[in-house]
Amino acid sequence: MVSILFVCLGNICRSPAAEGIFRHMASQELEFPLVHIESCGLGDWHVGQLPDVRIRSAALERGINLSNRAQHFRVGFLEEFDYVLAVDREVLSDLHRFAKQANTKAKIHLMSEFSELYKNEEIPDPYYQGEAAFELVLDMIEDCCRGLMEHIKEFHQKR
Ligand code: 4NP
Repeated sequence: MVSILFVCLGNICRSPAAEGIFRHMASQELEFPLVHIESCGLGDWHVGQLPDVRIRSAALERGINLSNRAQHFRVGFLEEFDYVLAVDREVLSDLHRFAKQANTKAKIHLMSEFSELYKNEEIPDPYYQGEAAFELVLDMIEDCCRGLMEHIKEFHQKR
C-alpha cells in the first residue's frame, strides 16, 4: 500500500482536485487497494467544507466528482504518508519546516516534480481568480498526476 497526501492552503481548490483526479486515475490504472489518497490544507479556515463550487463544477465537466471534506494538516501526517505533495513552493517550504528528519523531508515533493509539461512550476492559487485559472489548475494537476502515476507504477506496482 502506497499512501499519498496532497497539500495546499485551504484544501478547497487545488489539493482536493489533485486527490480526486489521482483517485480517478488510480481506479482505472492500478490494482486496488494499492494506494491510499488524501488531501489537506495548511490553513483551517474551511475545515469540514466541500471543495469550492468553481473547482467542483470544472472538475465535473472532466468527469471527476470532488466530494472530500476539507481537513487541516497535522504534523503526524508526515510520518503516516509515503508521499507528501505540495502544490507550490510556499506550501513546500512550510512542510519542510515541519519535517525534522531527513527521511521525513525526503517524502515531501513539489507536485510538479512529476509533471512533464509543467515541470517544477507552482500550481497557482485560483481562489481570487476567474474561471480560466481553475481550468489551468486542472490542466496542471492532470499532468502532475499522470507523471506521479507513472512513477508509482514503476516503483510500487510490482512489490
Ligand atoms: P487552495 O485555495 O489552497 O487551493 O484550497 C485557497 C482556498 C482558500 C484560501 C486560500 C487558498 N483562503 O484564503 O481562504
